[in-house]
Amino acid sequence: MKILLKNAYLLDPQVNLSDELDLLVENGIITKVESNIKDKADAVYDLKNFVIVPGFADAHVHFREPGREDEETIQSGIEAAMNGGFTAVCCMPNTDPAIDCAEVVTFVKDRAANSIIDVYPIGAVTKKREGKELALLGEMYEAGVVAFSDDGEPVSNSKIMKYALEYSSMFDLPIIEHCEDKSLTENGVMNESINSTKFGLPPHPSLAEVIIALRDIAILKYTGGKLHLAHISAKETVEVLRQAKKENLKITGEVTPHHFSLTDDIVETYDTNTKVNPPLRTQADINAIIKGLKDGTIDIIASDHAPHSIEEKEWEYIYAPFGIVGLETSIGLTLTKLFHTSILSLEEIIYKMSVNPRKIFKLREAKIQTGIEANLTILDLNCEWVVDKFSFKSKSINSPFHGWKLKGKAVGVLNNSKLYFENKLISII
Ligand code: DOR
Repeated sequence: MKILLKNAYLLDPQVNLSDELDLLVENGIITKVESNIKDKADAVYDLKNFVIVPGFADAHVHFREPGREDEETIQSGIEAAMNGGFTAVCCMPNTDPAIDCAEVVTFVKDRAANSIIDVYPIGAVTKKREGKELALLGEMYEAGVVAFSDDGEPVSNSKIMKYALEYSSMFDLPIIEHCEDKSLTENGVMNESINSTKFGLPPHPSLAEVIIALRDIAILKYTGGKLHLAHISAKETVEVLRQAKKENLKITGEVTPHHFSLTDDIVETYDTNTKVNPPLRTQADINAIIKGLKDGTIDIIASDHAPHSIEEKEWEYIYAPFGIVGLETSIGLTLTKLFHTSILSLEEIIYKMSVNPRKIFKLREAKIQTGIEANLTILDLNCEWVVDKFSFKSKSINSPFHGWKLKGKAVGVLNNSKLYFENKLISII
């Protein structure tokens, strides 16, 4: 089947492409990137005013299958990713049972097979994510994981972290750390600041994040291997990452849209959709994150999509679970907060949301080039829209961004010989 995408602006800094051109896709493969393609096609889409970029990849999502299918299944997560503009996701292992052995890795991959989205499982560092004993990293590598992490929990035991970095370096896969010194955050639910005192909520200080980042960097220097810092929220951690990169360590880092869009002032509402781990911080932290994004210290923007049931999010602030759904607001927030404010160019965003996650976790490359499989995200940069959590394809609606006015969104994705556009998913083979 031939699909002709006409008049879009094609942007791919990997191949120096930045032009208004047509794109012909035959049986899922890009066969022409030219102006005014005249070929007869089975379907023609006029994409004037849209920008086509390499397929975006979200390197940090939580799907809840197996275990909490009421909150998110692999299928509903895939639909949320597709609706949010992603063609690939890496899913964290804090399921029940955890992704800590080859069988569960295979289960996740089988559930996601033949979908428009590539789902890449991340294996747990420790058995059941209990932090006590190294999980079966070798067999999970054979089964196809792209990294190891106990995310949701840190790897608290330094000896286990040492083994994890040593062992994972045999497979050249990163360890993704959730940096949190639990002795400092016990019962903490929001950033430690004047606000935690004012709002009477137990504090979760930024110190807890930077301590584990520093410890892990010390271990990384000793063992070698690759370390990736998840959801960096604190200015101190950005600086520590910057210095570690200067020492040429194999270290990378990510931030989430909620950590650059919101401060802990919002917790004044006691809306549990603002409760997230690590917690929302201060404007000074946001400024440091922005500087880190601009100077290349921070490699990736990832959503940390963390679905939770309405019932549990209705508990009191101190009891409600941590987490924000992000797949369907991530691109809109990034374009609104970073692109339309001229903080990052679209090329830089393509690096943070497609090229870098694909490179760091060795996901399938996405390039706008003839002869390779089409793996694309279609953006409408100027569309103004209002976030409506009830329109999410995710099974969960725990978003603090409901009602926000955003500028720019993804309007479609094309991958694995499937096209999602104008709310329709079609096979193009
Ligand atoms: O807020 C969070 N929610 N942070 C995490 O690290 C885990 C996640 C979850 O799984 O709900």
